[in-house]
Amino acid sequence: SNVPADVLVIFGITGDLARKMTFRSLYRLERRKLLTCPIVGVARDGWSDDALRDHARAAIKATGEPLDDSVFARFAARLSYVQGDYTDEETFRRLARAVDGRRRPVFYLEIPPSLFARVVGGLAGAGLTKGARVVVEKPFGHDLASARALNAELRQLLDEDQLLRIDHFLGKEPAMDILFLRFANSVFEPVWNRDHISCVQITMAEDFGVEDRGHFYDPVGALRDVVQNHLLQLLALVASEPPSAADADALRDRRVDVFRAIPDADPAHYVRGQYEGYLQVPGVLPGSRTETFVGLRLEVENWRWSGVPFFIRAGKSLPERVTEIRIMFKRPPRLAFAEGFAPEPDQWILRIDPSPGMNFRIQAKQPGKQDTQLVDLDLLFAAELGEAPEPYERLLSDAMQGNASLFTREDSVEETWRIVQPLLEAPGDPERYRQGTWGPAGTSKLVAGYPRWHEPWLPARSPD
Ligand code: BG6
Repeated sequence: SNVPADVLVIFGITGDLARKMTFRSLYRLERRKLLTCPIVGVARDGWSDDALRDHARAAIKATGEPLDDSVFARFAARLSYVQGDYTDEETFRRLARAVDGRRRPVFYLEIPPSLFARVVGGLAGAGLTKGARVVVEKPFGHDLASARALNAELRQLLDEDQLLRIDHFLGKEPAMDILFLRFANSVFEPVWNRDHISCVQITMAEDFGVEDRGHFYDPVGALRDVVQNHLLQLLALVASEPPSAADADALRDRRVDVFRAIPDADPAHYVRGQYEGYLQVPGVLPGSRTETFVGLRLEVENWRWSGVPFFIRAGKSLPERVTEIRIMFKRPPRLAFAEGFAPEPDQWILRIDPSPGMNFRIQAKQPGKQDTQLVDLDLLFAAELGEAPEPYERLLSDAMQGNASLFTREDSVEETWRIVQPLLEAPGDPERYRQGTWGPAGTSKLVAGYPRWHEPWLPARSPD
C-alpha cells in the first residue's frame, strides 16, 4: 500500500495535540515541499474553514516556529473543515462529500481511543475505508486484555496494513540512528553482545511534573505512559538483529523478535515512585497510588543477550530532562603495568533528547601519572550533521506515503503489554521521592552487582 495519500483527514483537529504538534509539523512539511494533498479537519466545534486557518496560524506561531507568509498561504489553501458529532452518521456523509471521490485517504485519529472503533465504523459505513489508511494516537490499550480487544475491534473494520499506530519515539531521528550506528560501522557489531556488555541502562527523565495533565495521567502512570511503548521500542532497536530488507515488515519483524525473547517482567525487580506533591495536582484522585517514576529490570533471553540485564528508569519531576541509552561494557582486567590499577568499564552513550548525540566514554592515561582518567569522545549530531526533522514530520509524511516501518504492529503492541502485565497486576504502594531527585532509594538497589546509575551525559559536564 505504498501509494501516496490524496487527502489527509484529521479527527480532533480542534484539540490539544493538533494545536501543539500537528499544525507545526504539517507546516514544516509544507515548507519542505513534502505536502501534496488537501487536509480536512473534523471536530464537533462549529468552526468555518477560515476559523480553522486562523487557528492553524496562531497555533504554529505559539510553538515559536518562524512563519513565512507564502508557505503559510500554500498550507492554508489545503485546509478545510467538516463539523460533526462522531456518533452521527450524517457527519460521515458530509465528510464523504468533502473528500469527494478521492481514493487514497489517510484518516488521522487524534481522539480518545474509546472513540477509535466508532469513528472507523462511521468511515466504513460511509464507504470511506476501502484503500484508506488509519493513523491512531496512543494510548493503544490499558493492559494486555484491552489492547487485544481494541486490535480485534479495529481488525473487523480494517486490515492490519491499513492501521498505523503511532509511537512518536520511533520518529525521533536519534532513535532511527541506532540501527545506522550499530550496523553501518564495523566497530560496534562485534562487541554488541553478552561477551562484551555487562548491562544496558535506559533513562528517560523529565524535570517537570504532571501539571495540567492530572486527569489524563492519574489513571495511567509512568509504566503505561512511557515504558510499555516508547522505552521498549528503544530497547528493541538497541537489541535487535539487523533487518534483512527495507520493507516495513522486515524492520518490524526484528523489533518483535526482541520482544518475544523478553520474559514477562518480574515484580521483584520493579520500583515504583511518586513525587511529593503529586496528590495536590488537579485531576489526581485523593490518596492516588499512581506511579510517576518506575525502575525495572528486563532480560532478553537469546544468544546475543542472555545474562545482560536491561535496566530502565523513567519519571517525572527528576533533576533534568534527558533520554539516554547507556551501554556498559565489561570491566577490563587490572593493569599490571600500572600498579594493579582497576579501570572503570567503558561506556557508550546515545543521547536521544534533548541535544541528541553520542559519546564513547573511555579511559586514557593521566598526564604525568601511571593512572587512568575517564574521557569523552563525543559528538552532537546537530552540530556535525545539521538539524533533524521532528518526529511528527517524519511520521505524518510516512503515513501519507504509506511507509509503515515506524509504526507499531499488532503483534508488537500485544507483546509489549504482555511483558509489563505482571507489573500492572502487582502495583503495591509507590515510594515517595522528593521533586528534583533521581527517584526512590530502591532504584539504586535495582542495579546492585552492576555499574551504578550515572549522571546522564551532558556534553558540557565532565565524566562523573
Ligand atoms: C508522551 C507522554 O507520550 O511522551 C508524556 O504521554 C511525555 O508524559 C512525552 O512527557 C515525552 O515525549 P518527548 O518527545 O517530549 O520526550
